[in-house]
Amino acid sequence: MEDDRFSAKGFGMGSSFWNASLSQLKFPQAYMDAILAWIKNPKHFLVLYGGVGAGKTYLCAALLNDYLAKTKDVRYFRCNDLVNKIKNQFECSRGNYESEIGRICESKFIVLDDLGVTQNTEWQREILLTFIDKRNADGPTKATVVTTNLKPSEIEAIYDKRFRSRLFSSDNLILHCDWEDRRLNLDWEKDFYKQD
Ligand SMILES: Nc1ncnc2c1ncn2[C@@H]1O[C@H](COP(=O)(O)OP(=O)(O)OP(=O)(O)O)[C@@H](O)[C@H]1O
Ligand SMILES: [Mg+2]
Repeated sequence: MEDDRFSAKGFGMGSSFWNASLSQLKFPQAYMDAILAWIKNPKHFLVLYGGVGAGKTYLCAALLNDYLAKTKDVRYFRCNDLVNKIKNQFECSRGNYESEIGRICESKFIVLDDLGVTQNTEWQREILLTFIDKRNADGPTKATVVTTNLKPSEIEAIYDKRFRSRLFSSDNLILHCDWEDRRLNLDWEKDFYKQD
């Protein structure tokens, strides 16, 4: 049986994502081209920011299913789960949270979905800044996919300038998903490709 531990299903994503595939992904052609080029030589960050229901999580699932799962060196986290995992481990081992982040960051690929969907208390911000700082420092050899509904200015307001600078660095592939919510529009595929 095929090992699907590292797929969308294996990471506990909802069943609507189990069969997600890059060949089915409906993003603007320029975005598709950029994503396919990035995945051939993945490094630094791929950042998708913008609209609710734009298909960002679908893209994460498609990357896992079609490419990253094969590497078996990938982890997928929703932002809240990552922060809680680091906090729990820190509390259990009475170690420091930097070493737990270092352990997680050994993975070549990390997918961090829904950045910003946390309460953003001081310690939550600190954990995320340490995580983003570590991934940025390892950018030439590690690849990180981040999705968020937050705009760069909101990232800076909630976290800080250092966080924004690392996430929106010119080393990264940054895609603004500024189309409407696909969950609200039954005909989104038709409308999305409508020619004026
Ligand atoms: N080919 C496709 N490409 C992208 N999205 C798709 C595709 N087919 C269906 N969708 C659907 O569009 C809907 C919204 O996608 P998704 O959950 O990935 O959005 P999101 O950008 O992650 O939203 P949020 O910001 O709320 O997390 C989902 O129901 C998803 O399954
Ligand atoms: Mg999502």
